[in-house]
Amino acid sequence: MTLLAKRSITKEDKSAIITLGAIAREEKKKNPAVVNATIGMLYGEDGKLFSYKCVDKALNALSAEEKYAYASTPGSKEFHDAVKRWVFASYYDEFKDISAVMATPGGTGALSNTFANYLDENDKALLPSYMWGNYKQVLYENHQDYMTYDLFNKEGGFNLADVKAKMELLKKEQGRILLLINDPCQNPTGYCMTDKEWEDLVDAVNEISKDGTPVVLLHDMAYIDYAKSGIAGTRKNIALFKKLNKNAMAIMAFSCSKTLALYGVRIGAQVAVSNEKSNLVDFNNAAKFSSRSKWSNSTNLGANLLAKIVFDESLRKSFEIELKDAQDMLIERANIFLKEAEKVNLVTLPFSCGFFVTIPCEKSEAAYEYLVKKNVHIIPMGKVLRVAICSVSKDECAALPKAIKEAIDATK
Ligand SMILES: Cc1ncc(COP(=O)(O)O)c(C=O)c1O
Repeated sequence: MTLLAKRSITKEDKSAIITLGAIAREEKKKNPAVVNATIGMLYGEDGKLFSYKCVDKALNALSAEEKYAYASTPGSKEFHDAVKRWVFASYYDEFKDISAVMATPGGTGALSNTFANYLDENDKALLPSYMWGNYKQVLYENHQDYMTYDLFNKEGGFNLADVKAKMELLKKEQGRILLLINDPCQNPTGYCMTDKEWEDLVDAVNEISKDGTPVVLLHDMAYIDYAKSGIAGTRKNIALFKKLNKNAMAIMAFSCSKTLALYGVRIGAQVAVSNEKSNLVDFNNAAKFSSRSKWSNSTNLGANLLAKIVFDESLRKSFEIELKDAQDMLIERANIFLKEAEKVNLVTLPFSCGFFVTIPCEKSEAAYEYLVKKNVHIIPMGKVLRVAICSVSKDECAALPKAIKEAIDATK
């Protein structure tokens, strides 16, 4: 006997990331020699959570009102402008009037609102085959479902052919498409789409929507500011959204969790782009309704922090320098990991940069158990192992490939 309603009986957060992450944390407390490569947050070489000095400086400069007062549901005009300036960067002038912003609690809120308003009940979102698992939970919570596209083709590139095939299927099945792209630094693989892959993708979205089929390209850009190509490289691909026809719209899920290392502050935004004014009006109405009903408003503190960093020239300059250092630290860890992986013949999925490296492994649970006995914690996810290089030091990155290879070989 349960008091839960029918759809809630099966609700159990099975996220290995949360459960196994908590185990790793406890083990690390007992034994500092434990390697905890489960955490999706950036840690410094000193083993402490990485934070930006200029974000702290901005926090100290906020008034009580700026920190603690209620925000309006969509967020302030200043926040909207700060988001646009950050997200569009040198393309700001071209996009400021063909975009709209809704404040959300992190990228998760942005994903939740977008699924809620661009899919009907029981409709399926089109998700990548390797993915951040929480997409599925958010969809279930919204009474929605999903289908996956193969993220990689045989050559290890972005599998546009499968995306197109699945879009055709969904067009027939439900008459609308919501395609989720997590790029750059895809979680969990670390893949970054090339400029050409982005161009072809935008063309494919235009092609499938030209008969009037509504298509939303949901761009989960959580890790955008850690890409090797830097702000100029990543924004070049966002600029392609200007080419979308009026039946298609890009909605970006922007997250200050990663960009400003403000994971627990819970601030992010939906950023919609459309050449059709009415699409933006509809977006604002529906997103405001959803936000008001789910969380009422997002944190003023987080929103004002972003605004301070973006509009205060000296803070912004310091932030860009600190961000570059953080990117370099991650790149260095990845290079060390990959070099050692090559030495021991440990194969990874296509990786470019980011917080995680992923390794194919048929018996990932067994390999995980083996590694735990050796004081190494990573995340088994079906037929892969996810290694959070963001949360371990360079020395640990150097040691991990050999340990993982040994675990895979011992548990085959
Ligand atoms: C791929 C991806 N998207 C979105 C998020 C959402 O993050 P947040 O809600 O903290 O912004 C995460 C968090 O780990 C993620 O890995």
